[in-house]
Amino acid sequence: MKDIKNKIVWITGASSGIGEELAILMAQKGAFPVLIARNKEKLQNVKDTCLQFTQKCWMYPMDLSRVDELPDFVQKVINETGSIDILINNAGRSQRSLAIDTPLANDRSIMELNFFSVIALSKLLLPHMINNCHGHIVTISSITGKFGFPWRTAYAASKHALQGYFESLRAELSQTNIKVTLVSPGRVKTNISLHALTENGTSYNQMDKGQQNGLPANVCAKRIVRAIQKNKKDILVGKSELLMVYIRKFLPALFHRMVTKINN
Ligand SMILES: NC(=O)c1ccc[n+]([C@@H]2O[C@H](COP(=O)([O-])OP(=O)(O)OC[C@H]3O[C@@H](n4cnc5c(N)ncnc54)[C@H](OP(=O)(O)O)[C@@H]3O)[C@@H](O)[C@H]2O)c1
Repeated sequence: MKDIKNKIVWITGASSGIGEELAILMAQKGAFPVLIARNKEKLQNVKDTCLQFTQKCWMYPMDLSRVDELPDFVQKVINETGSIDILINNAGRSQRSLAIDTPLANDRSIMELNFFSVIALSKLLLPHMINNCHGHIVTISSITGKFGFPWRTAYAASKHALQGYFESLRAELSQTNIKVTLVSPGRVKTNISLHALTENGTSYNQMDKGQQNGLPANVCAKRIVRAIQKNKKDILVGKSELLMVYIRKFLPALFHRMVTKINN
């Protein structure tokens, strides 16, 4: 098991949900979290909680979809923290709109945050990790990165793109000491559906049944941290909904009947 005590862990989307729980758990294990998200007040609360358990914690309010600003931002964070041992790409936004109603600008905005900002950040930190001869890039994908899902065409596309990108990157890095872990949660009890993008550009603002009955976010975080410590390549985290991944693979006709019935 990898010891994460004293490791500097960059966590995006650390102001709520899975990212917040990851930050607190990492702090409880003696790691030093670097918290990134847009909401300054929420980040400050998470930072205060982390500092109850660990000696160092940094926070940087940042809109990650401003990809052009990331090179300067990454340099500043590295200068101030000294080093990054683990990057957890967790920030993301879901979708609640049918493809036919979704303006292309919304598809682009989901791809910009969920895919381009993630690969931009990973590529900016990669030379730093290679220089240090170690590092771990962890990306929170989704079961919608394993199969398509109604009302989430761009979201599912962004998560499929992450799957392809990081699987390929892992192969490229196989001769180095840089690890790549892909995490695919099913339904996790967070506010993700409230924040999901609708066709008119606003947030969906409703708690879906799926999330309401989902795995608690702190349990999800525990499984993710265990996977990081064990250098796992690709994990599923959730409840019975994970069966859909296997049904899709082994019983595709049944999968196609089931998936058409999903409506939230
Ligand atoms: N919950 C689930 O059922 C589920 C299932 C599968 C996968 N996932 C994935 O898990 C990850 C975390 O989601 P969650 O469930 O914890 O949802 P959440 O509670 O909505 O958290 C999303 C996080 O991303 C941050 N974020 C959003 N837009 C951002 C931007 N432009 N720049 C920087 N940070 C931004 C948010 O912070 P600010 O608003 O402060 O910026 C927040 O901290 C996502 O990648 C999601 O796709 C979740």
